[in-house]
Amino acid sequence: MLKGIVTISNDLSIKICVKLNMSLLVRACFGIHIYYYNCNYVTAKLYKRTSYLLPALRKSTVGNKNAPKSSSHEGQAATQNMSFENMVESRREEACRSILVQVHSEQSCFHLHKYCCQYGEVKGMHHYSLPGSSHFVLVEFTHKANVDHILKCSSHVNRKEVIPVRSPFLWFRAPNKPLQPNHTSSEPPTPVEINGNNIPAPAELRNWIQAAESFSDQILVLHRATSLNDLGSRLRFLTARQIELALSGLFPQITVMPFGSSVNGFGKAACDLDLVLLADKEETNDEDNSDCRIVFHAKTLLTNGRTQVQRHMETLGDMVQMLLPGCSHVRRILQARVPIIKYHQDLTGVECDLSMTNMSALYMSELLYILGASDWRVRPLVFAVRSWAREIGLTNPTPGRWITNFSLTLLVLFYLQQHSKHKGPVLPTLNTMISLAGSGDHRITSEGVNCTFIRDVSQLCHHMASSSKKLPNTDNLETLFIGFFEFYSSFDFTTHAISLTNGTSVTKPDHSPMYIANPLERGLNVSKNVSHDETERLRIEFRNTAWMLESVSLTPHETSLTVSQKKADEAWGLTALFEAPQSAAKGRNIFYLPTQRVPPPRIMDVSNLFQQDTDEVGDSFVRDSAVPVNTLSSNKQQSEVQGRLKPSKVAKVSRRVHRR
Ligand code: GTP
Ligand code: MG
Repeated sequence: MLKGIVTISNDLSIKICVKLNMSLLVRACFGIHIYYYNCNYVTAKLYKRTSYLLPALRKSTVGNKNAPKSSSHEGQAATQNMSFENMVESRREEACRSILVQVHSEQSCFHLHKYCCQYGEVKGMHHYSLPGSSHFVLVEFTHKANVDHILKCSSHVNRKEVIPVRSPFLWFRAPNKPLQPNHTSSEPPTPVEINGNNIPAPAELRNWIQAAESFSDQILVLHRATSLNDLGSRLRFLTARQIELALSGLFPQITVMPFGSSVNGFGKAACDLDLVLLADKEETNDEDNSDCRIVFHAKTLLTNGRTQVQRHMETLGDMVQMLLPGCSHVRRILQARVPIIKYHQDLTGVECDLSMTNMSALYMSELLYILGASDWRVRPLVFAVRSWAREIGLTNPTPGRWITNFSLTLLVLFYLQQHSKHKGPVLPTLNTMISLAGSGDHRITSEGVNCTFIRDVSQLCHHMASSSKKLPNTDNLETLFIGFFEFYSSFDFTTHAISLTNGTSVTKPDHSPMYIANPLERGLNVSKNVSHDETERLRIEFRNTAWMLESVSLTPHETSLTVSQKKADEAWGLTALFEAPQSAAKGRNIFYLPTQRVPPPRIMDVSNLFQQDTDEVGDSFVRDSAVPVNTLSSNKQQSEVQGRLKPSKVAKVSRRVHRR
């Protein structure tokens, strides 16, 4: 017997009671809370697609200017109107109250819930699966003390064969005694999310975009369906907490902060996790405690700060590789401007870049978060442009001489700072944000980078609305999207640089093919990596797309077909744009250069070869980790692994990587 209450918490405030049988995407798009009670998980057939909710998704976005504000993603919705700092703190606090448990299947949720309730009130459970059929549940308790209690009572198996690390990364073993059949819960219903990490398949996403009612609506659907959801955020903050916990004995004030697209509001589902490790974030109380006569003993820092950071990062890399459950594919990239450790967290399925002393990047994320929150159109527009770039092969997941998502985001923000003769801009300039900063907004990094700007989004919006002498910009997403391509089609990248500081282009200070001035670190070029060829290609693609937007249909084709039949219809709007290579090949597009639309294979960087070399070490380490992940199956294997990772070998491998 399966019953469920499904609450669709969107602008329409629909509340329906149905048997649980719905598309994951619908759930993702609406932030549907599923409360199970009297569930028999074994018979539950979840997430079969039904079409009856499709019109609801479409409707919800049509002409609904507030749609993105009332995010579908339930946890996200709670943090939506928070300041960046409060959002980060709330997520960090949530991670402290959470554990991650590997389970046999989603059917284990009920038993796990019952088991966890012995240790305290369970606030929520979020199930997800990863390739290879491993299933996990993120359990959120009401109090951090509940987590401490359950960890205290947890144990290792084969203790002699594993490194007995204690962390909130656990697995749920079979009970010693058989369970009572037909067991029903006496606990109050706990929200349980199943398959919370599912990303819509490309074909499914295409159908949803095709079924939208307008071009603007397509952009909103794309944003809602592909942005990082609540579980994605939870897993990223728990991944950060793992490093924090591992080092907290040495640095009790340590903070490992997510930054980049995981927190700046521009994150896509499955985006990477950028982390910065701050040994003492507040750089606390040395002066306040100057009267205190008890002083810590500590080792002296090396005189060369960069060398010190590199050596610390190297040690950190060893710790992550050898001690932390789930961490694999560890690569040390220590010669970069910002040295990083790259690794994969197999249990949360997140690719991580860990750095130290990178506070300006954290403030950059805050700046982007504020700009994204200050107008509902910003994030969907950035998503659409980033998706466009990915679809036509302009961006690439590996770093190289092509434009990055971060630079593309800055291009969109800069475009939104522009104003016309009568209409004001959508976004303020950084100078405006600096001039509005209050006393609580003062931030200067330890490297001396001034990151002071207004943090209060509502105050910023109020200023934008009240100070403009021009008409407010009320363009819809379609107009803004088209305008973006028109704007950059005529932008002179050869002589001009982009500056978000005053929202105007400036003369290029050097000969870089593309120059996007770093808004916080003056004098640095964010797009320094972009080659001449790639800049040229970008310029052609801007023109190409501007032209295509004039020629492709931006409204759905008139049809008498039902919604489910429509999906196979001729592409229009975004779909037509993303599927352009076929139409371009037919010669419809005058700007199209066949060899450029499908990017030529980019020659592999020598550095990538070195990376692969290090991967081998990480790989063999992972292969030795049997399920449950990271439990080495024998002493022999463990000593083999440690043998392979002898300091001399690790140093040799990382030296090769250093040459990047
Ligand atoms: P995706 O990972 O592609 O989803 O986007 P992202 O915004 O996270 O970009 P990325 O992982 O490349 O960089 C992470 C963050 O580092 C960015 O959001 C910026 O805050 C910062 N960042 C990236 N590149 C630069 C740069 O060239 N200069 C500075 N100062 N910060 C950068
Ligand atoms: Mg990133």
